[in-house]
Amino acid sequence: MKECLIKTEKLTKIYKLPAEQIRAVRDIDLEIFAGDFISIMGPSGSGKTTLLDSLGCLTTITSGRLIVSGKDVSHANESELVSVRRKFISFVFQDFLLIPSLTVLENVMLPLYFARLPQDRNRAVEILEKVGLGHRINHLPKQISGGEKQRVAIARALAISPKLLLADEPTGNLDTKYAQEIFHIFKKLNQEGLTIVVTTHNPNLGSQASRIIYLQDGKIISENKPN
Ligand SMILES: Nc1ncnc2c1ncn2[C@@H]1O[C@H](COP(=O)(O)OP(=O)(O)O)[C@@H](O)[C@H]1O
Ligand SMILES: [Mg+2]
Repeated sequence: MKECLIKTEKLTKIYKLPAEQIRAVRDIDLEIFAGDFISIMGPSGSGKTTLLDSLGCLTTITSGRLIVSGKDVSHANESELVSVRRKFISFVFQDFLLIPSLTVLENVMLPLYFARLPQDRNRAVEILEKVGLGHRINHLPKQISGGEKQRVAIARALAISPKLLLADEPTGNLDTKYAQEIFHIFKKLNQEGLTIVVTTHNPNLGSQASRIIYLQDGKIISENKPN
């Protein structure tokens, strides 16, 4: 039986603002299994980022259940969530979020420092080679293209050997060709066993995942399994 990495039951996240409450995601029932490659699609404001952040323990949830790697974190506070996601879940964001003053290699090695893992330079170089950047390790972020920056961000996410990679609109700032390269890398990583959940509003990219979940107004309206 496939290992269930994340399970949600009626997961709901409400943003409480002074003047109103925004029900950003509602009643989400979802199971993410080891080896899944899932895209979450839906229009702007449909709750993709909120759902991804909730799954990745980047934010507390308002109600419902969230079970991550067998642990019920429905009522966990921010600091408990940090320890759940550390060494298990990695993130890639639309804006790359590289440190401008560090080289490509140093950016990739930084999470090892924060996770108090061995500073294995050779492995960091290997990961960069895997994403096609073996020739760019000593460049600074400003010296590489947008597509390359996102590949550095993916390499950095892989440094801690996560079980789960969550990517929020990772191709949102990239031209079609570079966007497709990122999805090629995701497919390859998934074939090697990495579980991936990616949000995108690009159907050509999203349809390359093996499970496609559609969100509208914070709710799952359908799921496609192409194969
Ligand atoms: N930090 C926040 N505070 C208040 N409202 C938010 C916040 N983040 C998102 N929202 C609202 O929640 C809804 C879902 O947003 P989001 O999850 O960012 O959707 P998507 O990623 O699909 O564009 C939107 O109505 C958005 O305005
Ligand atoms: Mg978003």
